[in-house]
Amino acid sequence: MKETPETRVVVTGGAGFIGSFVTKQLVEKGCHVTVLDNLSSGKPEYIAGLDRVSLVKGDICDEKAVQEVLKDKDAVVHLAALPFIPDSYYFPEEFFRVNSMGTVNVVWKAIQSEAVEKFIHISSSEVYGSAIHIPMNEDHPTLPHSTYAVSKLAGDRAVFTMYKEHSFPTVIIRPFNSYGPNITQPYIIPEIISQLQATDGHVKLGNTDSSRDFTYVTDIAEGITLALFKDEAVGETINLGSGRDVKIREIVSLVADIMGKNAEIERDLSRIRSYDVARLVCDNSKAQRLLGWKPKVALEEGLRRTVEWILRAGITFKTPFKGWPRTYREARNQLVQA
Ligand SMILES: NC(=O)c1ccc[n+]([C@@H]2O[C@H](COP(=O)([O-])OP(=O)(O)OC[C@H]3O[C@@H](n4cnc5c(N)ncnc54)[C@H](O)[C@@H]3O)[C@@H](O)[C@H]2O)c1
Repeated sequence: MKETPETRVVVTGGAGFIGSFVTKQLVEKGCHVTVLDNLSSGKPEYIAGLDRVSLVKGDICDEKAVQEVLKDKDAVVHLAALPFIPDSYYFPEEFFRVNSMGTVNVVWKAIQSEAVEKFIHISSSEVYGSAIHIPMNEDHPTLPHSTYAVSKLAGDRAVFTMYKEHSFPTVIIRPFNSYGPNITQPYIIPEIISQLQATDGHVKLGNTDSSRDFTYVTDIAEGITLALFKDEAVGETINLGSGRDVKIREIVSLVADIMGKNAEIERDLSRIRSYDVARLVCDNSKAQRLLGWKPKVALEEGLRRTVEWILRAGITFKTPFKGWPRTYREARNQLVQA
């Protein structure tokens, strides 16, 4: 599919953290974007004021809603998912319903639409499990460590097999950990920032020796939007990550420096995730080769922008920590009441 103005793209989860940046970048390329989002974590204000964007509040598991939204559309970027790992310990069926079955519904309706020419599926580096070798390329074994990651891998493989069975042009993108403004979930970086904000530098964390490859959200969004218009990417699975991993305790020091605090880490056993991934480091050479993608925002600069955004915009998920299962339950209750 060539990059032309007027391309009509559906972005599922487009009101969310990564999705809102994908939506913005597609609009900047001249596309018309329809966001399909149930707003369980996404926020309409993240895409408010953008020209050529319409928001449809709906569920990716709803066959009719998806069919309706896909009518006469040229492409789909599928980001909608339940993404917060600890929630999946307590809502395993819901994670499979949304991340696996929801994905099957969206890709199958896209195939049946006979209009959609390109499907970008957003998977996750979590499908690999902990690094067996580093850096991790797309051939790294997939040995997921959480119910979230298994539910994502099921969606990922369903998209791949449907590409094979129907010659339907798909690309699977596996982002490594993303961070930046428009955060919606209590991921580790906003968690550290909000704790530092609330104290004189005292933070309570679980495993601070694990390391992740943190990549700024606009870089992840750029890789996704590039994939939409690159024919070379069809049928491929492509990692997006910086190529540098950093331990959680190092992130605390970097963020504390930016915020002018003296960090002191207290180990909180209740925060330790069972069967946590120890290390993720991205080999991004395939993204460089096929997409011409390279991350642009260095970690220190990205953290500075993230701190600035959180101090300005505030953060809506709760501290102090009251146990893992609260977050999704609260979101779901709000949704049911809406
Ligand atoms: N943030 C990361 O570090 C990261 C890393 C790898 C992969 N991913 C993937 O990127 C995607 C976006 O994640 P995010 O971090 O931006 O989280 P997010 O929670 O901000 O985005 C998910 C979006 O999907 C929407 N949504 C959830 N369930 C839905 C449903 N049933 N129907 C319609 N909309 C629904 C939410 O309201 C939200 O807007 C997910 O697929 C996630 O698995 C994220």
